[in-house]
Amino acid sequence: ELLLIAAGVAGYLLGSIPFGLVITRMLGLGDIRAIGSGNIGATNVLRTGNKGAALATLILDSGKGAIAALIARYVLAATMSHDLGVEAGIIAGACAVLGHNFPVWLGFKGGKGVATTLGTLLATAPYVGLAACGIWLLTAVVTRYSSLAALVSLTAAPVLAWFLATPAHAAAFALLAALAWIRHRENLRRLLNGSESRIGDKKKKA
Ligand code: G3P
Repeated sequence: ELLLIAAGVAGYLLGSIPFGLVITRMLGLGDIRAIGSGNIGATNVLRTGNKGAALATLILDSGKGAIAALIARYVLAATMSHDLGVEAGIIAGACAVLGHNFPVWLGFKGGKGVATTLGTLLATAPYVGLAACGIWLLTAVVTRYSSLAALVSLTAAPVLAWFLATPAHAAAFALLAALAWIRHRENLRRLLNGSESRIGDKKKKA
């Protein structure tokens, strides 16, 4: 149990690294929190016009969820006789999402957790993760709304996990989907009144 708590704390700390903020600052693109939606995620980094920075943010933000989950899973599988590896991976990844959304370093004002949730899903239930990423991509290509793609894919994830993974996966990703809806309430308001910016627009929405 102590190891599960350690996995959660390590996941939180890894997740709390705000790669979008770090990368845009390193490249001299200004404070990402003063641009576009003000969010620290890849979608908003793309609004700086720097596609490489957005891609790097996407890979690192999803990677930190995946790495947290994989490390926790294999450390626990290696150190314990009874197998809590699967649960440890889910807990560490979910805590990485909490770290991304509520980083202690930024006064708990972080991102929306989409990339980190998808990274965790890919690491803990690869087929469900691939399906969710496919749903994200399809929704994004059809509507060009990143936020809508996030809500559709993350809401589908626990349903897919119920059938293709375990009840533990379904429960954890249902909670992460609920969290994503809460974190997207501004996006939701903009989607409903037609003012949400689309991928490819440079229009500012803050
Ligand atoms: O991943 C966050 C995305 O769903 C919305 O980002 O910047 O448009 O609020 P943003």
